[in-house]
Amino acid sequence: MFDTLQRPVRDLRISVTDRCNFRCGYCMPKEIFNRNYEFLARDLLLRFEEITRVAGLLIDRGVEKIRLTGGEPLLRVELEKLVAMLAGLGEVDLTLTTNGSLLERKAEALATAGLSRVTVSLDSLDDDVFQAMNDVGFPVDRVLDGIEAAAAAGLGPVKVNAVVKRGVNDHTVVDMARHFQGTGQIVRFIEYMDVGATNGWRLEDVVPAGEIVASIGAELPCEPVQANYAGEVARRYRYLDGSGEFGVIASVTQPFCGACTRLRLSAEGSLYTCLFATEGHDVRQLIRAGGTDEELGAFLDEVWTRRTDRYSEVRSSETAELPKVEMSYIGG
Ligand code: GTP
Ligand code: 5AD
Ligand code: SF4
Ligand code: SF4
Repeated sequence: MFDTLQRPVRDLRISVTDRCNFRCGYCMPKEIFNRNYEFLARDLLLRFEEITRVAGLLIDRGVEKIRLTGGEPLLRVELEKLVAMLAGLGEVDLTLTTNGSLLERKAEALATAGLSRVTVSLDSLDDDVFQAMNDVGFPVDRVLDGIEAAAAAGLGPVKVNAVVKRGVNDHTVVDMARHFQGTGQIVRFIEYMDVGATNGWRLEDVVPAGEIVASIGAELPCEPVQANYAGEVARRYRYLDGSGEFGVIASVTQPFCGACTRLRLSAEGSLYTCLFATEGHDVRQLIRAGGTDEELGAFLDEVWTRRTDRYSEVRSSETAELPKVEMSYIGG
């Protein structure tokens, strides 16, 4: 199954909740995601059986990798049950992106349920910087404990995602690279993106990946390495002394839409064909109206084969103003 730009569907990213216990300014700024913000009501969320059904139909259509996201996915009650159900669908790479706050408690159960790996978001190792960025005063140490617990449970190699924002945490990038050198954990620095419509994104706040690589390379000699697979979003670099690798995700300065095989399913069951989409395709309604597998399958085929998205390649000051769906709703 191919879209209008001849891209197959390979990755399914499933948001299981739009809630999060952090308030990172680039994702869920406190001024907007406060007490008055209306999160999705419980009965609007896709149930585990419904998620698994959609995932199964998409595996039939080429999906090989499933990533659970949020909001913060570990806030969804009994998430390990969903993991077990998805793992039961067969040979898929089943992963999870989390802020790590609940990981120490959950790592073992997730591994037992059949999760393959985890990716943990952590923007800085400097406690003041990190606590200001998550904006709820959450300490670095507890995220590091979560990463250790995940590695111990066999959920490695753990990848660590750090969003870099100019003037906020860019001065802590090299420290972070050094910390994860030789640990087997792979840190990836992400260019700050204009996702959603609430984070007040400005191009001046983006630190280009080229600049990040240059500042790391000046202290820790490194060279580029080939991607692990076609369409990998991170560009990889290895340390010349053999102590491992890091990556950069340059969605702003070096877009990778040409090889984008990702489909996103929101917590309330809408399909989004791009991280920067303004509208979704409601699959929950079809399921709850008693749709058959054939009807659901035809809907999925139509959504993907009509897909034209390549937002990062056409980004401009005007597109940054579009009423895009929030990343906490659609998943990262
Ligand atoms: P693995 O290589 O399997 O670990 O997965 P991955 O590289 O896809 O990593 P992950 O899913 O953690 O993605 C890392 C980050 O890249 C995300 O959190 C986003 O910030 C960004 N990203 C992922 N997919 C897209 C995409 O389709 N478009 C854009 N613009 N950014 C993306
Ligand atoms: N720009 C770049 N990355 C972002 N993430 C969330 N919002 C943004 C943004 N505006 C990242 C998180 C997490 C992943 C799910 O997406 O830090 O690692
Ligand atoms: Fe929560 Fe992740 Fe968004 Fe931060 S980036 S507010 S941890 S969902
Ligand atoms: Fe895919 Fe849209 Fe990201 Fe481009 S901007 S890589 S089409 S999700």
